[in-house]
Amino acid sequence: ELVSLILDEECRKRLTSACSKDLQDFPETRGPVILEVGCGSGAIGLSLLKKLPHSQLIAIDKLEAAVNLTKENAERLHLQERIHIFHHDISSCPWECLLPWGLVDTIISNPPYIFHEDMTCLAAEILCFEDLGALDGGNDGMSVIKEILNVASYILKDCGSVYLEVDPRHPEMVTNWLSSHPDLFLFVSATHKDFCGKPRFLHIQKRREENHQRA
Ligand SMILES: *[C@@H]1O[C@H](CO)[C@@H](O)[C@H](O)[C@H]1NC(C)=O
Repeated sequence: ELVSLILDEECRKRLTSACSKDLQDFPETRGPVILEVGCGSGAIGLSLLKKLPHSQLIAIDKLEAAVNLTKENAERLHLQERIHIFHHDISSCPWECLLPWGLVDTIISNPPYIFHEDMTCLAAEILCFEDLGALDGGNDGMSVIKEILNVASYILKDCGSVYLEVDPRHPEMVTNWLSSHPDLFLFVSATHKDFCGKPRFLHIQKRREENHQRA
């Protein structure tokens, strides 16, 4: 769902938005530079690489096993030329290390977003087989989301996008949080529902340069 949403939105953004000129400005042989935070097996990022010719992916994960798995899958899909995979935790990695290809066009993540108090209510098969560190988003479910948005304000190009899978309570919470952090120059541009009709995916964008002045 996240992958097809990103493909649709990116296409629509290029055709219709006030930013379309900036976004279409790729040379023939260069596609968007995408950063995936918490790549896990690489399923989301590698699908985008496959679908978007000339796109490039920086994939990071705090678990070495996930980094190894993404590498293995990238090779299996013959995508290793267009990917940099790093063993990093977004909360401690200096943002310069995320810029091997310069500023980033798009950041994607299915971050840990479960509210800590809800962790005990998860289905048994999730508790038994999933890495709990990949699920627990802290008291408000937003600890990693906030890290990602902080980094986004530095490394995204103007008009660049962040796509996140979130808890249905988060669209409103993230909107409020961004309103109280205008220095990040980010705004929620769309919320999309999942197949159950719950608001589950956030599209956040960075404002254009002429509309802001960084201190
Ligand atoms: C990841 O791959 C490296 C290099 O092949 C290996 O040394 C390391 O043990 C692997 N780590 C895990 C957690 O699988």
